[in-house]
Amino acid sequence: PGLKVFDRGFTNTACVESAITFIDGEEGKIKFRGYDIEYLYDNHDYEEVIHLLIWGHLPSNEEKQSLRERLLAELKTPQSVVDAIRAFPPQSSTGSMILAGLAAFAALDEGTKKLHSQAEPYYIGNMKNTDAAIIRTLAAIATTIALVYCHKRGKTFTEPSLEGSFISNVLKMMGREDKGIEKCLERLWILYADHEMTNSTAAFLHASSTLTDPLSSSISAIVSAYGPLHGGAIDLAYQEFKAIASVKHVPYLIKEVKAKRQRLFGFGHRIYKTVDPRTKFIREMIDEQVRNPLRSRVPLLEIALEIERIASTDDYFISRRLAANADLYGALLYTALGFESDIIVAMASLSRVPGPMAHWRESMQQKPMLWRPQQLYREGSKIGFPRG
Ligand code: CMC
Repeated sequence: PGLKVFDRGFTNTACVESAITFIDGEEGKIKFRGYDIEYLYDNHDYEEVIHLLIWGHLPSNEEKQSLRERLLAELKTPQSVVDAIRAFPPQSSTGSMILAGLAAFAALDEGTKKLHSQAEPYYIGNMKNTDAAIIRTLAAIATTIALVYCHKRGKTFTEPSLEGSFISNVLKMMGREDKGIEKCLERLWILYADHEMTNSTAAFLHASSTLTDPLSSSISAIVSAYGPLHGGAIDLAYQEFKAIASVKHVPYLIKEVKAKRQRLFGFGHRIYKTVDPRTKFIREMIDEQVRNPLRSRVPLLEIALEIERIASTDDYFISRRLAANADLYGALLYTALGFESDIIVAMASLSRVPGPMAHWRESMQQKPMLWRPQQLYREGSKIGFPRG
């Protein structure tokens, strides 16, 4: 009963109060816990930013060391997870394999089991259990993605070590140990570590508002991350760029987009209508890699830049405030680092895990509140049916 406000797609509805990330889409600003993203990018590494987002402050040396040790100790590869992933033909979709790996992890997880076998709440209000689950979830997602990466390529999975950073161990598990790549990801992953109520974080929180466990909620987040309007846009942008094959065909693609026969994947953003502050850094990193003779060439970059050049002077894009998004540039950077397009959404999702974990921890310190949007019932209307 009472007034219902219609807000299709929640473009104007806030459903959480949060002290984690501030975004100003008009000014192009991002702050994590009050720190400008530019400052964090220049002065900190990914593990420090994980700590900042989840536990609210930049860590001391001891806190950073302890976080690293706990994370590395949880990088385990249970046989049932390996079997679940290897049951797929290697050419299967990466997203589906990740979901299976995470489901296998959840089936073994002590917290997930307890949650379903005891009446008292296991996570809400219990920060000890919550913090331990955050570490297990981050580690499980990293291990799953590395296992999937190796299985898809017929590569041997390398066991992680108890030495080095979290990122160096992710690369090691993937068989891609390389100091240059590690240094680059330490910076790139800071930019991706959280983005407040992005669709996948909201999907995570929607599921976890039922008080389910974080590994199962991560399955919802991964499903969302692979959707074409969200992270999955990257796969489609690559297909689009490959299909036009050359910069000389860009005007044709633009014509199709303006006639609404095609969507330009990797362009547009719900929040950023002027500039996305992450793009500048990612472009600098791409330039660094393109100048590095050891790295792959990025022919798709030329196409992306040409599209951006045309879009920046075309009224269709200007009037709708559509520009290349950071996910697109991130994908081109991964390509320059030698990662094939089939693993890019997974890598971007892994770098984002601290975000949902921070928001989940915040929610576990509050009274439970089930997320349950409403609808407006329109009796007899033709909603969803073609007109005429
Ligand atoms: N290509 C062509 N036209 C577009 C695009 C695009 N990529 N994005 C928006 N438009 C048009 C849209 O058709 C509409 O036109 P009109 O006013 O004539 O109806 C207008 O711009 C406003 O679009 P909207 O759908 O109301 O905008 P939104 O804020 O709801 O959509 C978006 C945001 C990301 C879903 C959309 O821009 C899009 O589909 N982009 C392509 C997919 C993509 O790259 N997604 C990754 C987004 S970045 C990371 C993330 O948060 O997921």
